[in-house]
Amino acid sequence: NNEIISLEEITQFQSPTEEFNPYVWYKHKLQNEPVSYNQATDTWNVFRYQDVKRVLSDYDHFSNVRMRTTISVGADNDEGKHMGKFNLMTDPPEHRKSRSLLSAAFTPRSLKLWEPRIQEIVNELIHEMEEAEVIDVVKDFASALPTIVIADLLGVPSQDRQLFQQWVYDLFLPIPKENTESVNELKRRAAKEYYSYLYPHIVQKRANLSDDIISDLIQAEVDGDRLTDDEIVRTTMFILGAGIETTSHLLANTFYAFLYDNNQIYAEVRNNRELLPNTMEEMLRYRFNIAKMDRTVKQDNNLLGVDLKKGDVVVAWMSAANMDEEVFDNPFTLDIHRPNNKQHLTFGNGPHFCLGAPLARLEANTGIGLFMDKFSRIEAVPGFKLEDNLTPSAAGQMLSSLPVRVYR
Ligand code: HEM
Repeated sequence: NNEIISLEEITQFQSPTEEFNPYVWYKHKLQNEPVSYNQATDTWNVFRYQDVKRVLSDYDHFSNVRMRTTISVGADNDEGKHMGKFNLMTDPPEHRKSRSLLSAAFTPRSLKLWEPRIQEIVNELIHEMEEAEVIDVVKDFASALPTIVIADLLGVPSQDRQLFQQWVYDLFLPIPKENTESVNELKRRAAKEYYSYLYPHIVQKRANLSDDIISDLIQAEVDGDRLTDDEIVRTTMFILGAGIETTSHLLANTFYAFLYDNNQIYAEVRNNRELLPNTMEEMLRYRFNIAKMDRTVKQDNNLLGVDLKKGDVVVAWMSAANMDEEVFDNPFTLDIHRPNNKQHLTFGNGPHFCLGAPLARLEANTGIGLFMDKFSRIEAVPGFKLEDNLTPSAAGQMLSSLPVRVYR
């Protein structure tokens, strides 16, 4: 199994709040230590746009095959592991096959079919808020939406959503420094239960194909090869890992930005919906503040201006690259009118570019758009303390709750 690299030892943030607003640290790194070695973790860290882009995309020099990594999602038992044909933790040309098999589930046609289902799920969530004047937009909306969407797209019956949510929650728990073993045990159990739940579903689906991700994966064929039932379960677990917490984080932080970064945006976008897609791109650039990805040096090189040796680990900080003034004017300002905010690296770059990006964008635009249809105005609730409402996640500090006063 991979050894997990502790990001805390690289960032040395003094508090959860500081980690949630890492802008000072990014600025310092961009200006003073754009390529720096961290002794505690034995990693190289890169921050500038061109360097980050290179590390993510230049697979001849920076490999997705690793012994040590910052990714801690999943479980270390048999059920929780990647095995078989499907493995995205590879480089081209091997990577191509797994990527093509998985793309079968993320075609533009699928997206069109999913749009009304996503709308329905958003409307249900809004309906469940009933006449509440204050909602917890994280629990009631941001964290619920992506889980239900994926459960639905996998074809999981809605009465099993609770089960599903708990497994997802456990699989995503960050691995703490203390209590490591009990968290690992929880993850193993979740992986096992998930596996035994989903496997029979797949067997059934083979006989009753419909419009869902599992049916697409069953039918996917590349170079005469297809996925086995076992590989499909593992593939869906990977999709959960890639697609839920990320999208929740984007949605939650968007509301945080509406309330605390600039409280004019909500009204402006509500009155001019054409601004919504660009607003979400700016949220991905500025408020998705925890994006980073590691690679392992494949052959000795000096591409980043330092001597890198085969086997060295390089962490590429996409969220810092999104603040590089070489690419973005006034990068530390949230600006929904920025013409080039789509150049952000939050979805990665190169052959591993996020396969779920169109889905994430659809969920975000649909979710925020329908929310705006329903609520004319939103306000922060006085007394909210950011520091008390953050929780560590596999990806970094996430909002655990965010109260919002809503007006209909
Ligand atoms: C890959 C970010 C949502 C599925 C990636 C990568 C990033 C990323 C940075 C590249 C990793 C690398 O270079 O090694 C995000 C963000 C999201 C999001 C910020 C939401 C705001 C989703 C969703 C799904 C998804 C909703 C699917 C349901 C994937 C898959 C890959 C991937 C399958 C691997 C592609 C490959 O290795 O070829 N994502 N993602 N992501 N993402 Fe996403």
